[in-house]
Amino acid sequence: MSQSLILKNPLDMHLHLREGEVLESVFPYTYQGFVGGVVMPNLSTPISNAHLALEYYNTLKALCADFTPLITIYLTPKLSIQELHQIKSLGFKILKLYPKGATTNSQDGMSEILAPQTLEVLSEAEKLEMILSIHAESGGYSLDREFEFLPIIAQIAQTFPKLKIIIEHLSDHRSIELLNRYDNVFATLTLHHITLCLDDLLGGGLNPHLFCKPILKSPKDRDALLELALSAHPKVSFGSDSAPHLASKKLSNPASAGIFSAPLLLEQLCELFEKHQALENLQAFVSDNAVRNYGLTFEKVREVKIQKISQKLPQAISLSNDQIIPLNAGKEISWSMI
Ligand code: NCD
Ligand code: ZN
Repeated sequence: MSQSLILKNPLDMHLHLREGEVLESVFPYTYQGFVGGVVMPNLSTPISNAHLALEYYNTLKALCADFTPLITIYLTPKLSIQELHQIKSLGFKILKLYPKGATTNSQDGMSEILAPQTLEVLSEAEKLEMILSIHAESGGYSLDREFEFLPIIAQIAQTFPKLKIIIEHLSDHRSIELLNRYDNVFATLTLHHITLCLDDLLGGGLNPHLFCKPILKSPKDRDALLELALSAHPKVSFGSDSAPHLASKKLSNPASAGIFSAPLLLEQLCELFEKHQALENLQAFVSDNAVRNYGLTFEKVREVKIQKISQKLPQAISLSNDQIIPLNAGKEISWSMI
């Protein structure tokens, strides 16, 4: 018998599922392995109110009733306190803050994050025990964008000590100390930021399929983040930031930012944690930490069995008029879900 491993209720705490044909093509790669996940709201029409959130929730449920989509609400300057209450009453509790212009479909995001009106919404969100998920990047030099944004996180964390704040796709080793400094600051980590660095994107030939926001950083950052993941730091959970874009858009100028990482994610995580003798921490990284930190409850426990049987990642996902290229396309992985 080959070696096997059971993961209970795996969760992807940051993912982009999109709409229409792309949604239908990419979603199975996530729900095959994960029981739920945090679904990002940056659609062409941002999920910025309770009505749109419910509509998107129902669309996802119709495609897979067994998957628990934790829909996030796109924080725009227009979000009212009344709407916030409506959102919470429908069971949605994660707000996503995009600095205006920071990433894909962030044009409706916040330009003045610490404006009095926003602080009022955040204060109410704190009272409602909601969670603030942040795309933490300034508009400055690419490699320093996350670092430059940290004072804003510190300010929000101090002002609203009961508001849980998630630094999404943490990418810079200088951000890690905030997890230890503030009780209410948490983070998600992607597979690409813990295994790759800037040289993988542009050190040899330019590989637009590895272009994402925040950009891949130095080997030192990668290694510090990997350490955080392998040790399953209690304030960190796995969030793939799987962000599908059409291949034609990835190869155009400017190239779209986002890495489609959904295929064989759990299998790749098994391989990585095994390589570093940390398989015993994988359960905490892909589920337990998130369940505790986000206050989640699941009626059932789904056990996902993964066995040491090799397989290859697909080269591409075909759509009617285009394709989507996954992270590590064509690579052999030594684990398979059974
Ligand atoms: C994401 C996308 O394509 O929606 N892109 C990315 O580079 N990660 C948005 C985001 O999470 O920044
Ligand atoms: Zn994202």
